[in-house]
Amino acid sequence: MQCIPVRLNRSSYDILVGTGVSDDLEKHLSRAGLCEPFLVISQPRILKAVGKSLKKRFPVVSIPDGERAKSLTTVSRLLDRMVQLKLTRQSTVIAFGGGVVGDVAGFVASIYMRGIAVVQIPTTLLAQVDSSIGGKTGVNHRVAKNLIGTFYQPRLVLSDPLILQMLPEREYASGLYEALKYGVIGDPALFEEFERNTSMLKKRDPEAVERLVARCAAIKAEVVMSDEKESDLRRILNFGHTVGHALEAAALYRRIKHGEAVGYGMVAAARIGRALEKINDWDVHRIENAISSIGRLPALDGVSSKDVLGAIQHDKKVRNGAIHFVLPRTIGSVEITAEVPFEIVREVVKGILNDGKRLFGPG
Ligand SMILES: NC(=O)c1ccc[n+]([C@@H]2O[C@H](COP(=O)([O-])OP(=O)(O)OC[C@H]3O[C@@H](n4cnc5c(N)ncnc54)[C@H](O)[C@@H]3O)[C@@H](O)[C@H]2O)c1
Ligand SMILES: [Zn+2]
Repeated sequence: MQCIPVRLNRSSYDILVGTGVSDDLEKHLSRAGLCEPFLVISQPRILKAVGKSLKKRFPVVSIPDGERAKSLTTVSRLLDRMVQLKLTRQSTVIAFGGGVVGDVAGFVASIYMRGIAVVQIPTTLLAQVDSSIGGKTGVNHRVAKNLIGTFYQPRLVLSDPLILQMLPEREYASGLYEALKYGVIGDPALFEEFERNTSMLKKRDPEAVERLVARCAAIKAEVVMSDEKESDLRRILNFGHTVGHALEAAALYRRIKHGEAVGYGMVAAARIGRALEKINDWDVHRIENAISSIGRLPALDGVSSKDVLGAIQHDKKVRNGAIHFVLPRTIGSVEITAEVPFEIVREVVKGILNDGKRLFGPG
């Protein structure tokens, strides 16, 4: 088991990564100074796949499956249940699920009685390497994703590679793209592990997954520690996300999973970097290769470049006029720039959409 400490100004917590770590949940809760009453928040599919023993040990509330659960309606229902169950300020919410559960459960914990403890037990690879760490919580508004939320740190994060064994293939691959991101932004050795060892990672070999999750969690923790509220440094975590988010929005958050969109977004960022002569051809080739070795990205036919570019422009308005791109310089180092001519973005997006039909999509 590996322990990654997250030390922040007003809170500190540990991320424990290890095979079987979630079996010892009670022990870890008590070591973190958390005691009853607990309430587990999860989703039916997750409880069925990996939550049977948890259901016997703790009171459990389910929210609907999928992104649509990230709504104020869910929040309101959960708050009703928490009042009904007489949760106190000493209570602890246990978020048992992927990013959806983590975001919603973290949000309700942050507002119930002005904030009660929350523990994250991420059950998707994406949540283990990303969303369970850093304290961003929230739900969607009909006009934009994640519009309503808080920064609220968990008291403990438990990441168990074994929990990922039942995760559907596409969800798992989606997490691998997000994990690869950390290699490009700051860890050449992690990137090389992808180049050398993709088959072990794809097979979900517990040791390989544990190493991967621990490394990604450590990088995310380091970035969060130096920039808790996402002012500047934390933006490097958005590598692949400018175009990625736009693709998700243009596909109406249905056909493309977040990590897959980030896969395409990283290709886009690498190509933009090359057009601006910030990165050499060989490194762009390595990035594209590593992404396609994870698996085929879903086809993008039906997604129009106009919608994708429109979504990027919309982002620009929301963020006061500048579109920030995180561009790779080499494997392991990136720079943030607002100086990308829109013409280059347009060309690259068109290229990605074409490749999305030919190269990455199902053959
Ligand atoms: N807070 C943050 O910092 C942050 C960062 C990145 C993403 N997010 C959010 O995370 C969400 C996406 O999270 P996600 O990719 O984990 O998706 P998700 O939470 O929807 O989970 C994906 C699917 O896998 C199923 N599942 C989860 N764990 C399983 C398991 N162990 N076995 C079998 N099935 C399982 C779920 O039921 C669901 O159908 C988005 O809403 C995104 O906005 C938040
Ligand atoms: Zn992401």
